[in-house]
Amino acid sequence: MIAISLPRLTSRINALARFGALPGGGVTRSCWSAPHEEARAWLLGEMRAAGLATWVDPAGNTFGSLGARALSPETPAVLTGSHIDTVPEGGVLDGALGVLAGLECLQVVRETNTPHAKPLAVAAWSDEEGRYGSLFGSRAFCGLLEGNVDEMAAPDGTRLVDAMAHAGFDARRAADARTPKGAVSSYVELHIEQGPRLEEAGIPIGVVEAIVGVRRSRVVFVGQADHAGTTPMERRRDAFLAGADYALRAREHVVTRGSSVSVTNIGVVRVHPGASNIVPGRAELLHEMRDPDPGVLERLAKECAALAHDVARTHRLAVELYPISATTPAQCSARVQATIEKACAKLGLATRRLYSAAGHDAQNLARVGDAGMIFIPSQGGRSHRVDEMSDPAAIQRGANVLLHTLLALADGA
Ligand code: GLV
Ligand code: MN
Ligand code: MN
Repeated sequence: MIAISLPRLTSRINALARFGALPGGGVTRSCWSAPHEEARAWLLGEMRAAGLATWVDPAGNTFGSLGARALSPETPAVLTGSHIDTVPEGGVLDGALGVLAGLECLQVVRETNTPHAKPLAVAAWSDEEGRYGSLFGSRAFCGLLEGNVDEMAAPDGTRLVDAMAHAGFDARRAADARTPKGAVSSYVELHIEQGPRLEEAGIPIGVVEAIVGVRRSRVVFVGQADHAGTTPMERRRDAFLAGADYALRAREHVVTRGSSVSVTNIGVVRVHPGASNIVPGRAELLHEMRDPDPGVLERLAKECAALAHDVARTHRLAVELYPISATTPAQCSARVQATIEKACAKLGLATRRLYSAAGHDAQNLARVGDAGMIFIPSQGGRSHRVDEMSDPAAIQRGANVLLHTLLALADGA
């Protein structure tokens, strides 16, 4: 039976991990940064050496294909992929696995002259991690880019237009990456689970049923900077304390009033002017909420906005709310799920259907074709941290499931 080469896939995972490698392990490879652009050049070289036709679209999505140097509705393609950008201090598999396993599958198909009625292609989508904009590249590809790219910026204030210009791209042209209608027949992405469910259940393969929606907003409390020694405690309008109160109350609200799978996180906090002897005049929080049900997300977002105003009143200061992004939750295609399960049955692998609480490009691809995802267990359920890892045998199983799923989809499953 046709199979991927684990040594070749592992050596590529290790090679990609060198771009943005951190001294203590793990990697920081933000989209458009120098390590990311060096990784992109390396990936294009690997794709070409494997005999793929390659191209990069105006949103920076990087493609390799066993066929023409473009996707076309005349010959709808079976697409796979993931991303090569990482979170700060991230691991070496989140995203990288799906791109490199996709490349490996296409290389094996080519080397073995395995017939496939539909063209096969692999994509590395830009800024999946949303440093500048959530799932940016796949949104552009799927015609879902909304809002003004001039207003998109990283948490440190770097503007997307400048970051992309530095990498040789024009952000204002990113929407031109939109794929022609009908060019994608199906999309299947291999990814680490990033949570503990598969490992704890002893199940080698997860078949994703649905993918979470994520809402991010900037919550800014504006109080009054004051001398931290001389201002009587009762007169202070401390913006940080309002932010801290909001963080606790928003968490409590989402836990008690959200669905059983709603989650919330405040991952960035900035206090201004930021000196130990000044009462903070301004506190800025990046607040994120997740749920698979868009109605629940919408309600929680409204309720948390009301909560922010209530906190501001209690602390006698002002609050400003700025929506940053909202990704759409998605159901995976029944056809793709069934095809993955058939491939697993052929390979003798047990499966479990599960819901993805992490966002993925597949949720955008679900808007232009039939989309699905294959998960493999993550050691200890760890992800978005430097010690994120999966067993080599798990990687091999996942890549072989991807290979057989792609071939079945390309033959009209
Ligand atoms: C992607 O990794 C996410 O933040 O869910
Ligand atoms: Mn991630
Ligand atoms: Mn990912």
